[in-house]
Amino acid sequence: MKKIRYAIIGAGTMGLEHIQNISLIKNTEIVAIVDTHKQSIRTIKKKIKKNFIYFNNHKDLIKKDIVDAYIISTPNFTHLKILKDVLKTKKHILIEKPLTINTKECLKLKKLAKNYPSIIWTAMEYRYMPPVNKFIKKIHNRTIGNLKMLTIREHRFPFLKKVKNWNRFAENTGGTFVEKCCHFFDLMRLIIKSEPISVYASGGQDVNHINERYKNIKPDVIDNGFVVVNFKNGVRSFLDLCMFAENSDMQEELSAVGNKGKIETSVPSSQSGKTSSFIRIGMRKSRKIIRELIKVDKKILKAGHHHGSTYYQHLAFLKAIRNNSKSEVSLNDGLISVAIGEAAEKSIKQKRVIYMKEILN
Ligand SMILES: NC(=O)c1ccc[n+]([C@@H]2O[C@H](COP(=O)([O-])OP(=O)(O)OC[C@H]3O[C@@H](n4cnc5c(N)ncnc54)[C@H](O)[C@@H]3O)[C@@H](O)[C@H]2O)c1
Repeated sequence: MKKIRYAIIGAGTMGLEHIQNISLIKNTEIVAIVDTHKQSIRTIKKKIKKNFIYFNNHKDLIKKDIVDAYIISTPNFTHLKILKDVLKTKKHILIEKPLTINTKECLKLKKLAKNYPSIIWTAMEYRYMPPVNKFIKKIHNRTIGNLKMLTIREHRFPFLKKVKNWNRFAENTGGTFVEKCCHFFDLMRLIIKSEPISVYASGGQDVNHINERYKNIKPDVIDNGFVVVNFKNGVRSFLDLCMFAENSDMQEELSAVGNKGKIETSVPSSQSGKTSSFIRIGMRKSRKIIRELIKVDKKILKAGHHHGSTYYQHLAFLKAIRNNSKSEVSLNDGLISVAIGEAAEKSIKQKRVIYMKEILN
């Protein structure tokens, strides 16, 4: 079987996670690493004892034409600029979430990538967390009947320190509901199988980063909030985000209620040291309860912070490359998840319901 050759553009926290996970997969090879920051390259050299070819500019890598797939894990505000160049290669691309920092940029990108001959995959890896993946399948198998309500809670630690602390400002990230919560809005659309029509949110920056200053400027990222998203098919969805809940047992908790029953699952926080969680289904009429243990291999857990999802996402990406099939997470999926996040940020600022057509038109 032909080895698939990868390059990683942006070798910070997430770039390292990509390297560690691809390294677990047979018949793959990471050939090159690009990063503009010397310290990031030094960290990779120290942590991964392999002979990668290093570049400090993605254009120099592209000129060499030495890989089959590009993984882009640079800060959000660089995505569109780098993608414009990588698209010229016509090779396979996995671009980290959020696709870009706002809907306008995503729409530009979608136009640029129309009829792209290879795979472009938005890295929405929460879809691939083993308990979440099982949860989605059970709902789509109609285990709980017709889905009516979906709730997602993320209670976690604050944003980590990043190279040049780019993640402290909404102009670099798109804002917390774009940067972080695009994952959850993507899950809502995937699970509900419908499009959002309106968004109402309440949120603020109440605890985190309020005493930090960068060139005398205070960070402006929201650290908690509630978001209600209404879907065309009548299903209601709710997100509860708190980023000053470091000592949580479970980082994400999901529940869905249909006309026949309720299904719940959760994802252990990386600090909890847990390697497994449960799916619980409770039926209304029969009162039957089904509990299923979902375990993740320790070797896979060790390769990243996202409960195995980066590994399973890479398996799916590789399978699509080998089978010459379509991307499981399209640019449109990336776009709508950003648009819902943007609507939530706008709703908080303007204290009103935002209709998706205001964002997408
Ligand atoms: N899928 C997920 O769950 C997940 C988790 C964390 C981060 N991310 C995403 O991954 C991306 C990177 O985040 P991170 O946490 O790794 O940030 P980071 O700051 O730790 O790493 C980013 C790296 O990109 C480098 N870089 C900046 N501009 C560059 C350029 N023009 N060319 C090459 N390298 C460049 C930086 O020097 C740094 O080493 C972001 O888009 C972020 O939202 C996704």
